[in-house]
Amino acid sequence: MSSIITVKNITKEFRVNKGRSGFLGSVTNLFSRDYRTVQAVNDISFEINRGEFVGYVGENGAGKSTTIKILTGILLPTSGMAEVNGIIPYKNRVENSKRIGVVFGQRSQLWWDLPVRESFDLLKSIYHIPQDLFRHNMDLFIDILKVDDFFDVPVRKLSLGQRMRCDLAASLLHDPDILFLDEPTIGLDVIAKDKIRKFLKEINRDRNTTIILTTHDMDDIEALCKRIIILDQGKIVFDNPLSTLKKEYGGERVLEVEFNEFYESLDKVPEINVFKEEENKKWIKFSREKYTAASIISKITENYEIKDISIHEPNVEDIVKTIYGNLY
Ligand SMILES: Nc1ncnc2c1ncn2[C@@H]1O[C@H](COP(=O)(O)OP(=O)(O)OP(=O)(O)O)[C@@H](O)[C@H]1O
Ligand SMILES: [Mg+2]
Repeated sequence: MSSIITVKNITKEFRVNKGRSGFLGSVTNLFSRDYRTVQAVNDISFEINRGEFVGYVGENGAGKSTTIKILTGILLPTSGMAEVNGIIPYKNRVENSKRIGVVFGQRSQLWWDLPVRESFDLLKSIYHIPQDLFRHNMDLFIDILKVDDFFDVPVRKLSLGQRMRCDLAASLLHDPDILFLDEPTIGLDVIAKDKIRKFLKEINRDRNTTIILTTHDMDDIEALCKRIIILDQGKIVFDNPLSTLKKEYGGERVLEVEFNEFYESLDKVPEINVFKEEENKKWIKFSREKYTAASIISKITENYEIKDISIHEPNVEDIVKTIYGNLY
């Protein structure tokens, strides 16, 4: 299968002023060449196939938005090559924009002072969207995102969640092949997040739209992405299916056991490791590679009197934190 996005050894450096403070500092800065280089993205490569839903994650400043900006043609890489739908985005930004949709959660792409309806009409003419496609898509966005609730309201007056729904609708109005989402659920409440997740899932499934999602919310990733790319200080440190992440890094499972009485230790079951205690309760870790939960539970119940037991599945957020953590 040929890829729809190719990134080959892309590096992006920013030159920033060393920034001396004070009056004299700002005067000096005008004339001196006292720069520091920030490597926002450092020799990254990956390929994405049509229809994939990829989570692109990393801590603040890892280089996520920089990558998205290169792929959408906003930024020129310092070195390396990117191709999106057969187009080099930073060389043919306009051509590229016809086939992609972009949402930056931090900033609306819509016209701040225009009512929502007029923003959509403008996009229709900018992208030369045929009337029937426009109607079809508007009906869908009205149905799922309820954008008609605030058609006559200027964008600047919308709540964050309303604005995000409009931005999403706007990004998809021209049926793009690829959708870039940079923190589309930032600041949204649980219900709004859930609606947006459902919508994105449908778009990916029904239209085979390729989606690259940047987020700090690991529940977004877990709900939506089959593949996860983790970036750390400009470098890719993990690029695998989400299931691999859970299997390889979620190596330990946790049992929460409430006993009938207090036990000093559980040394009759050497396979386990108690890492937290509270009265008669103990939190236990064991390797899921070596043991099944059933075998561990039966060993515990053979040797101790238990009242209640529950198993915790490894959670993506903890695993990703472990991966970041392992790097230092
Ligand atoms: N225009 C710029 N000029 C100078 N430095 C920049 C510029 N844009 C980004 N950087 C720097 O590049 C690095 C990567 O920034 P980027 O915005 O890509 O991170 P991010 O992964 O999107 O982070 P966040 O999760 O906070 O959005 C940071 O150190 C940032 O300060
Ligand atoms: Mg960012």
